[in-house]
Amino acid sequence: MKLWSGRFTKSTDSFVDEFNASISVDKYLYRQDISGSIAHTKMLAKCGIITDKEAARIVDGLEAILREIEDGVFEFDVSDEDIHMSIEMALIEKVGSVGGKLHTARSRNDQVALDTRMFLKDAIIDVGTEIVALQSELINLAQREMGVIMPGYTHLQRAQPILFSHHMMAYFWMLRRDFTRLKGCFKRTDVMPLGSAALAGTTYPIDMEYVARELGFKKISNNSLDAVSDRDFVIEFQAAASILMMHLSRLTEELIIWSSAEFSFIELDDAYTTGSSIMPQKKNADVAELIRGKTGRVYGNLIQLLTIMKGLPLAYNKDMQEDKESLLDSIETVKNCLIGIKGTISTMKVNSEIMGQAAEGGFTNSTELADYLVGKGTPFRDAHRIAGNMVRKAIEEGCWLSDFSLEEFKAESPVIEDDVYDALNIENAVKRRSIRGGTAPERVKEQTEKAVKLLEKEQRWLEESS
Ligand code: ARG
Repeated sequence: MKLWSGRFTKSTDSFVDEFNASISVDKYLYRQDISGSIAHTKMLAKCGIITDKEAARIVDGLEAILREIEDGVFEFDVSDEDIHMSIEMALIEKVGSVGGKLHTARSRNDQVALDTRMFLKDAIIDVGTEIVALQSELINLAQREMGVIMPGYTHLQRAQPILFSHHMMAYFWMLRRDFTRLKGCFKRTDVMPLGSAALAGTTYPIDMEYVARELGFKKISNNSLDAVSDRDFVIEFQAAASILMMHLSRLTEELIIWSSAEFSFIELDDAYTTGSSIMPQKKNADVAELIRGKTGRVYGNLIQLLTIMKGLPLAYNKDMQEDKESLLDSIETVKNCLIGIKGTISTMKVNSEIMGQAAEGGFTNSTELADYLVGKGTPFRDAHRIAGNMVRKAIEEGCWLSDFSLEEFKAESPVIEDDVYDALNIENAVKRRSIRGGTAPERVKEQTEKAVKLLEKEQRWLEESS
C-alpha cells in the first residue's frame, strides 16, 4: 500500500509505478535522506512536537536502515517510488506506527530539496579535491620540465617560442577559475529549505536554525515557494562542470595532437593508451579522446536541466525529478575525467628536443627581428615589413632567418648589426618576455610559486567545508 493511498480507490497501473519512480537514481541519496530525517526528528522532539521517547525510536530505526543499506541487505522496491518513501515505509515496518510521525511538518518537496543540496555539497568537495590534485600535477610537470622550449601557437600556426611549463600553467589558471566557480556554487547550495513543506511553509512551530546547525548549513531559505522550486544550484553546478569539461577537452585535444607522429612533442604512457584490434602499430590516446568526448554529455546535462526548468510554474512540479540522474552523471563524469587526465599527464614523456627544434623552425623568431629593428629606431610598421621580406626570402631560399649573413641582413636594413643573431636566438626570445604573466623562466617560476600558495588555500577551504 502507498503512503498516500487514502484518497484513491484503485491502485496505480504497474507501468505508472515504474514510470513515476525515481528510486533507481535517488537511492544514491540515502545517506543524506537519513541524516536529514534524523536531524528533523531530533528537532521535532526538541520543539515538543513529538516526545523524546518517540524520537529515540525513530532515530534508532533510521540508523538501523542506514546500516542495512550500507551492508547491501536493504531492498529497494519501485512501488515505493523514491528514496524518501522507501525509507519511511521501512521505518514504519521496523518501529511500528510511531514511524509515521517522522513526516510531521515536512513534505517530500522540501525533503528532496534538502537531500539534493546536501548531496551536491559533498560532491563539490569531491570534485574540488580532484581539481586540486590535477592542478598540483600541472605544477609538478611545469617545475620538472622548466626550461623546455616549444613553439607557441595561434591559429595552430607556429607563432612565438614559449616555455612548455608556461603552456601547462595556463591550464592551472583555467582550473583555478573552475574551482572558484564551484566554491560560489557551494555557497548558494548551502541553504537549508526544510520547513518550507509542500510549498507554503509548515504550520508546526519548528526550529529551522536547529536543523541547519545539525546538518552543517550556513543559511536558511527565505521563501518557501522558492525553496521547493529552486534548482539554480544544480544548474550552476552543471554550468561550472560544463566549463570545466571544456577546459579538459582543450587540454586533451592538445595531448592528442602532440602525441601524433606529425608532432611527436610527447609520448603518452602505455598505461594511458590502448591498441588497435587491426593495426599492430597503433597506440591510441583513448583516455584523452574519451575525456574530450564526454564533454558532450555534461553540456547535454546542463541543457537538459535548463530546459526542464524553463516555463515551470511555481512551486514543485514532478518534472524536477529529472534533475538528479543528470546531476549524478555529471558528478561521476567530471571526477573520472579529472582522474584520467591527471594520470595521463603525470606519466607522459616530454620530447624536449623535438619541441625545441619545432620552436627553432617555423620563423617563430620573426617578431624578434621586428623588435630588434624597433630597438634600433625603426618604426614598428617598417620593422614588421622588413622582417616579413626577410621571412619571404628565407622561404624562397629554404633557410631560416639566422642562416642569413650580416651582409644579407644589411641589404634589407643598414641598422642591423652583429648582435642580430643574439636577438634571433629562441632562448633569448623567451627570456625577453619578462612582463607579468609572460613566458620568461623567472616569471614562470613565480607563477608556479604563486600557484602552490593558492593551492594550499584551496586545500584549506576543502577541509573546512567538508
Ligand atoms: N522523487 C521526487 C523528486 O525527486 C521527490 C519529490 C516528490 N514530491 C511530490 N510531491 N511528488 O523530485
